[in-house]
Amino acid sequence: MMFSVSKIDKLMERMTLAEKLGQLTMTAAGYAVTGPVIAGDSTDSIRNGTIGSLLNLAGARHIHEMQRIAVEESRLGIPLLIGLDVIHGHRTVFPVPLAEAATFDPQIWERTAREAARETAADGVAMTFAPMLDVSRDPRWGRTVEGPGEDPWLAVQMARAKVRGFQGDDLASAESVAATAKHLCAYGSSTAGRDYAQVDVSERTVREVHLPAFAAAVAAGAAAIMPAFTDIAGIPMTAHKALLRDYLRGELGFDGVLVSDYNAIRELINHGVAGDIVDAAVLALKAGVDIDMMAGAYRDGLPVALERGLVTIDEIDLCVRRVLRLKERLGLLDDPYRRGATTETPDAIEARRRLAREVGTKSLVLLKNAGDALPIAARSARVCVLGPLADAAREMRGPWAAAGYDEPSVSVLAALREALPNATVTHAEGVTIDGHDASGIAKALERLGDGADVVVLCLGEAADMSGEAASRAFPELPGEQRALAEAVLERARGADIPVVVVLFCGRPLIVPWLVERADAVLVAWFPGREAGHAIADVLTGRTSPSGRTPITWPRALGQIPLFYGQRSGGRPENQADRFTSKYLDAPNSPLFPFGFGVTYGRVSYANLRATPASATAGDVIEVSVEVTNEGPRAAEETVFLFVRDRVASVARPLLELKGVTKASLDPGATATARLRLPAADLRFLGVDLEPVLEAGEIEILVGPWADPAVLLSSRITLRV
Ligand code: BGC
Repeated sequence: MMFSVSKIDKLMERMTLAEKLGQLTMTAAGYAVTGPVIAGDSTDSIRNGTIGSLLNLAGARHIHEMQRIAVEESRLGIPLLIGLDVIHGHRTVFPVPLAEAATFDPQIWERTAREAARETAADGVAMTFAPMLDVSRDPRWGRTVEGPGEDPWLAVQMARAKVRGFQGDDLASAESVAATAKHLCAYGSSTAGRDYAQVDVSERTVREVHLPAFAAAVAAGAAAIMPAFTDIAGIPMTAHKALLRDYLRGELGFDGVLVSDYNAIRELINHGVAGDIVDAAVLALKAGVDIDMMAGAYRDGLPVALERGLVTIDEIDLCVRRVLRLKERLGLLDDPYRRGATTETPDAIEARRRLAREVGTKSLVLLKNAGDALPIAARSARVCVLGPLADAAREMRGPWAAAGYDEPSVSVLAALREALPNATVTHAEGVTIDGHDASGIAKALERLGDGADVVVLCLGEAADMSGEAASRAFPELPGEQRALAEAVLERARGADIPVVVVLFCGRPLIVPWLVERADAVLVAWFPGREAGHAIADVLTGRTSPSGRTPITWPRALGQIPLFYGQRSGGRPENQADRFTSKYLDAPNSPLFPFGFGVTYGRVSYANLRATPASATAGDVIEVSVEVTNEGPRAAEETVFLFVRDRVASVARPLLELKGVTKASLDPGATATARLRLPAADLRFLGVDLEPVLEAGEIEILVGPWADPAVLLSSRITLRV
């Protein structure tokens, strides 16, 4: 049989070592006033084939110019791979990923990724460094904002949806970009929530909590994966053979590209596992990392390593082939200019803006609504909008808004004025987000004194207080905001004016005092460009809030890490017994559990059924529950299905999420929510860390959030 020599084989035959290492080298580009500049290198390197990829470049004109140099002026004419962090939208900024997670809606995750891919590709970019799939159970960690929250099942759903959204049906399409699942893995467990710090987690936790989302991303066809900056038990992920080579490439069969994190190969020296850049390059290559982002370690270190016999040319070739294969899959080898060839229509842009508003609305989480303070009554003629985030349009985009920084966004104040044209809307900032000047508080109180039917108090973090390198030891309200809030709450209580707090944050904030004293608390996270409109939609009652928190809200810093999926332990909490697992000075319970969020309805649960009562491995357990809206307003209820395996060979978590569904309920309406639970999903990792399905009783728990006290429970028996 004859095989035709592929394009890649032909290229490989002609490449020099320097050109091969060029394909493994990714360098940053930035913007100069007059166009793109290549940081720390020059377009000459593209010309001579020693750079094969760029990051941080957007704009079809600039990218096509770079491509032209690569294609027309380099010896082999291999197009560049251009990547960019598109974390929550490109030009159109959608809510931050943690906020999107709060929608518990995979269709939304896929739609925003698809639209972001279209915009990104229209800008000439072929690859994104997203989705971030790191499970986080520590609100101190700033990057919590970039991910799916605390739950591995949710992370799996997000992985699938995002990869599908970014890559579409055809990676070569001019509307698709390569997804990079990051950061493999357990980055979210960095010690004490400090970014880049050491990670020490058990292999069980790695496999049960941190890896499933990556396995799902691989199964969904993710083109690339990025190892984390961090180590696990002393082995930096960039050099982690067992996880990158044996698990990812071996067990999962991942044949895409492994792209290092920014300068991470060089940082192997700081980690203390490499003496110099040559060592560092050898370790990363041996672990199977294909692209060296920003370290220049492959380009400088591998020629020496090759000479010393520390690596072979075959090992290098393998990486080069994977990179070329990605370029081929992206259609770049056929037509390097396919992305960015067409301009986007105003209709498409307008549709994305509407999507941003819809998703922004659905990602808001109403934590409290005492006395039905919300929605703002139609008769509210005087609305007093206070706080440093009330008129802070730029902050609304949240961290890592990439190419969307120059796009407009809507503040709460502007949107409320628009939504309530007949009301008198007054405003004072009071204090800045994190300054220490409290002198403006008096003016805010004056505004309140002018007379108000309701106060909307906009508090929280600045956009750049979460994200990379944004860990906080005190995840609370920064600056003088507490003083402002206390003064406003005090004055409003005296005047019998309800106070509605809108909280902007990239993580749960520890604010029990605020929740206790405010009438209503709406968590906005960072909703993106349509922030104000989305918030006003919910405040005015145009839309009923439906978001649920994808991460537990602790009461106290000392409770961290606090998450719903803990194991019982041998001495579970018992208030009557001192020698059980608890604190002397704080309850164990969170301020708000995973999944918490109220609507404008009042939903009750009844008649949980799970059949068959006795199931075998191949069965699907049909779970149903009746939900009734007993409130006066329509609501979209999110229904959670958890399981608990009370007796197993390995102690299982108190609750494990296995499914979510939604029910739209008019006032007085009852609906049956149905969920399917394949018995095979009840497998877990046994004593030897191999998957097992064990016979016995499984508790099925269904309800509005991860608090056993509010869940209905049924049991099935598993026979194997
Ligand atoms: C981050 C990555 C990101 C990369 C490129 C790094 O600092 O950890 O998540 O993709 O920079 O911007």
